[in-house]
Amino acid sequence: MQLYVNPASPFARKVLVVAHERGLSARLELVKVAPLPIRPVPELSAFNPLGKVPCLVLEGGQALYDSRVIAEYLDALAGEPVLFPAAGAARWAALRQQALGDGILDAAVAVRYERAVRPAERQFPEWVEGQLAKVRQGLAALERERSAGAALTIGPIAAACALGYLDFRFPEEGWRTRHPRLASFYEDFSARPSMRATVPPPA
Ligand code: BEZ
Repeated sequence: MQLYVNPASPFARKVLVVAHERGLSARLELVKVAPLPIRPVPELSAFNPLGKVPCLVLEGGQALYDSRVIAEYLDALAGEPVLFPAAGAARWAALRQQALGDGILDAAVAVRYERAVRPAERQFPEWVEGQLAKVRQGLAALERERSAGAALTIGPIAAACALGYLDFRFPEEGWRTRHPRLASFYEDFSARPSMRATVPPPA
């Protein structure tokens, strides 16, 4: 299977962590691309009409996207699913936490694009502040979600990828100061081999 990734993408990282946790890394051939809305990669867009990573191309040529779909596919491919609980409260908690982690990332990546891609004379500070407010509110909700000894599901994986991206692109946010339980969670979780193997390249 081919997995289109950008090594800096936290959504690609989430899928790579899932593959690692489920023992599937060796089955993925990574194709590194750096698409932007203003600079699409035609080879990727041929598989994913949205032009985004991650995108998984199966042996038969069928493509899967986005990160949530790929993560659930890989979890099922590895055998009895464990990262996506089948039903009940555990499933909804895992999916809610994934939605929080991904939502924090949607807002943070939007700010990253605004700052790194949009011309300086067209910057929109109020819009950036609005996105950063989403990041901060999302972190506060994740802080309330954290409980000691929680099972390994897609929820903590998504949360950890969001925290790792904040460290990578927004170190000035200093999220640990306001969120001690998340800080403790991340210290443990980021030591997992799956997280260590997927650290983004130096900024
Ligand atoms: C980044 O460089 O921050 C980035 C790259 C790809 C997707 C999202 C973010």
